[in-house]
Amino acid sequence: MVRVLFVCLGNICRSPMAEAVFQKLVDEAGLSDQIAVDSAGTGSWHVGEKAHPGTRRILAKHGIDYDGRARQIRRQDIHPDTYLIVMDQDNHREVSRRYGDQPRLHRLLYFANHPDVRDVPDPYYTNNFEYVYRLVSDGCQGLLATIREQEGL
Ligand code: 4NP
Repeated sequence: MVRVLFVCLGNICRSPMAEAVFQKLVDEAGLSDQIAVDSAGTGSWHVGEKAHPGTRRILAKHGIDYDGRARQIRRQDIHPDTYLIVMDQDNHREVSRRYGDQPRLHRLLYFANHPDVRDVPDPYYTNNFEYVYRLVSDGCQGLLATIREQEGL
């Protein structure tokens, strides 16, 4: 099983959105038995909560179900084979600080076609869920293409 874990700060806005969008792409590709998708936050403030209403609204608008609850990243999530996909440089720094260099730790937009945008901005502060959704969708499509190539799927 290939494991993909999306990581942001609170696990209520960006990483649940990425998890839901990516899961839909995986389902559509018929790869649900081969790719396991999850998300977590570096922080613990929102543990147990549903996704932010803005995230739930934009997912519903695109016909995507999401029922997950926030959780914090933990040591057992870290494995050299797991794709650890963070949303911004702060997440990257925090994951590296806690768990050391990880070979498959990347920012999501590394896989997208936006040379000038490297970080998914936090809609918790900007409220721009539409823009975040576009970035997340592009990143997820690129990520799935990369994983299929690397894993021969
Ligand atoms: P997320 O957004 O990292 O995309 O889930 C945030 C959610 C909550 C907070 C910050 C960012 N917070 O400070 O509570």
